[in-house]
Amino acid sequence: MSRDAPELPSEPRPRHVAIVMDGNGRWAKGRGQPRAMGHRAGVKVVRRILRAAHKAGVEALTLFAFSQENWKRPETEVKLLIQLFVRTLAREMDAMHRNGVRVRFIGDRSGFPEPLRREMQRAELRTADNAGVKLSIAVGYGGQWDIVQAANALVEAGEPITAEGIEARLQTAGLPEPDLMIRTGGEQRISNFLLWQLAYTELYFSDVLWPDFSELEFHQALAWYAGRERRFGRVPEAS
Ligand code: FPP
Repeated sequence: MSRDAPELPSEPRPRHVAIVMDGNGRWAKGRGQPRAMGHRAGVKVVRRILRAAHKAGVEALTLFAFSQENWKRPETEVKLLIQLFVRTLAREMDAMHRNGVRVRFIGDRSGFPEPLRREMQRAELRTADNAGVKLSIAVGYGGQWDIVQAANALVEAGEPITAEGIEARLQTAGLPEPDLMIRTGGEQRISNFLLWQLAYTELYFSDVLWPDFSELEFHQALAWYAGRERRFGRVPEAS
């Protein structure tokens, strides 16, 4: 089996996969390169995994690209990431649109400069009617922030705070809950990603650094998922 075209793992497959793309900095450091190189390499992997998700019949893919906490990184790295997002969107959008990807951004955009906000809006408007993979890119995102903004929206609308109400106002409203979360880079934590949405998600941790994450590794995660018994708080089937 070639490394580039691994066989698809068995079913069931997740409808929605959420990914914490960690390890860009360490990948670059390990090569004696600046962290920026790791982020650039990381963008290529986004393309690779988006294609792999499409081939595997995954409906929704949510990627953690920039957390609220990432604002605390050195200004040069933050600037570089923002620049990379703008360029990537400008460069990749035609191909994404051609492939039917529907792009949305989740998170608090208010801190981002106008050129990035403009690119994000353009991408969303252009791909809004596409029927392919629903790609959500989390930027300026925090799981706690998401729950608070949803609760505030209910208060403003004069509605009671209920689980259904919150769900309907989370940034991911309309998407199925994530079935599988993948975190690369060896850490085993959620880091304020989709806190509400991950309630019953299967969590898969890989030691591979994001720039090295291949289609084969993605399939390994899908195969692991296919072997999980999901109970959602119920007793096992046979008992
Ligand atoms: C975490 O690695 C990675 C990030 C904070 C940035 C992720 C962004 C990309 C891969 C680009 C995606 C672009 C688009 C448009 C979706 P780290 O820097 O925390 O690595 P470390 O833990 O090794 O330091």
